[in-house]
Amino acid sequence: MPICSTSLRRASPSIRRVSFGATRILPVWKGFPLSGAQQTVVSNPNPLLEVEDLVVHYPVKTSFLQRLFSREKLSVHAVDGVSLTLRSGEILGLVGESGCGKTTVGRAILKLVEPTSGMIRFEGIDVTRAKEADFRSLRRRIQIIFQDPHASLNPAMPIGRAIGHPLKIHGLASNDREVRDNVLRVMREVGLTPEEQLFDKYPGDLSGGQKQRAVIARAIILKPRLIVADEPVAMLDMSVRARVLELMLDLKTKYDLTYVFITHDLATARFLCDRIAIMYLGRIVEFGPVKRIYESPKHPYTRALLNAIPIPDPKRRAPKILPRGEVPDAVYPPAGCRFHPRCPAVLTTCGWEGRDFIDYLEERRLNPEKVQRDEEILGPLDEWWARGFQAGRKIGEEDATQLIEHVRSILTEAQPQMNQAVRDVSIRDRQITVEFHDPDLLGPKEVEGRLVECLLY
Ligand SMILES: Nc1ncnc2c1ncn2[C@@H]1O[C@H](COP(=O)(O)OP(=O)(O)O)[C@@H](O)[C@H]1O
Ligand code: SF4
Ligand SMILES: [Mg+2]
Repeated sequence: MPICSTSLRRASPSIRRVSFGATRILPVWKGFPLSGAQQTVVSNPNPLLEVEDLVVHYPVKTSFLQRLFSREKLSVHAVDGVSLTLRSGEILGLVGESGCGKTTVGRAILKLVEPTSGMIRFEGIDVTRAKEADFRSLRRRIQIIFQDPHASLNPAMPIGRAIGHPLKIHGLASNDREVRDNVLRVMREVGLTPEEQLFDKYPGDLSGGQKQRAVIARAIILKPRLIVADEPVAMLDMSVRARVLELMLDLKTKYDLTYVFITHDLATARFLCDRIAIMYLGRIVEFGPVKRIYESPKHPYTRALLNAIPIPDPKRRAPKILPRGEVPDAVYPPAGCRFHPRCPAVLTTCGWEGRDFIDYLEERRLNPEKVQRDEEILGPLDEWWARGFQAGRKIGEEDATQLIEHVRSILTEAQPQMNQAVRDVSIRDRQITVEFHDPDLLGPKEVEGRLVECLLY
């Protein structure tokens, strides 16, 4: 993570450090903390926030013709069974590549998106079922900071008015003087100085860092308990990122805040968070104390992500082993373990399905030694279909015995785990079908002090 080479301080009155004092200086080298974030013991064991089996599916808009020909209702599986608890005073990181569902979880916590199912409880109150009127008082205690400070501010509203606006909406100030005094105070606290001069400036007059400070000021003016910070420094210049993070830590101490910190950046998460949840395609795959996960990641995806962090030491530079392929489409998440098409440690029972076989056929067509014979015997790729755990093709007058033998033979050249996952290759009613076994059931398991969702454990 590109935070600048400076020292960042973190402290919290509600958190008892295990191995450090109340305040700690973390050195960073070109943005990378040289030592891991500390494990914390939180003095209040009651969760501030509980998320249980949260599911958020966004419906996909389809054309009239598509609806006419298909009864299937398509949806983006943005979040698919996320559970977590957040203790008062901690910083919980939601970490993962773009599109894995981090923002959706954050927005669901604030009731900015309606969950498809699941439960979110804040301070013991069921947010998911709370009526809008009941949620209003909660909304003051949960605030969100978005990635883009420019889009978060009304360009036609002076900064001072924007920061004071929530006080008016929630009726928390009796007159304009009180609003102004409060605004000037928080502007000083977030470093928006000289505050009297900046009060009447418009967002367009401020730098990116100043705008994000204004957004932070607007969030803390209501004295919230929980702040969901969605990639709060991702759009800022490198030079100001560290200072904004440092500000967030200072405010956490001052206001006794709890953060859900959303980031795709593992170095920032390591520096800032107490615990992290690594997300992949709508699921949490590893969840636990930062120190443990960074020192000894268990899930193959976490390992791949951590491998991809540049090491700030030319002598220790190791080859980067990134997962092969791209993140699959969240409209059609893979069966079994969603990471299985990319997993370097994949097992026979991880969820092999029809489309993996088609992908394998495609891969073979890129090989000049195999393409011709495959085309002759297996026919055109676009005639192959995949449905769930089966793949197949209608066959014409060709030699069925030769076809089935060739399919069996190419399976022996595939990844052994895929070959062993095949239940049957058969020809019935002029249709060849390759069928895979059902995957093993997958759920989070406790592994060395963290939860991991992987069949290796
Ligand atoms: N309003 C929406 N409508 C449809 N799909 C959405 C919407 N918002 C997000 N998505 C999709 O949901 C998935 C998760 O998105 P998001 O929560 O923004 O992930 P992240 O914050 O990790 O990048 C992505 O596939 C994204 O394209
Ligand atoms: S369950 Fe584990 S081993 Fe299997 S594909 Fe998923 S991450 Fe890899
Ligand atoms: Mg996001």
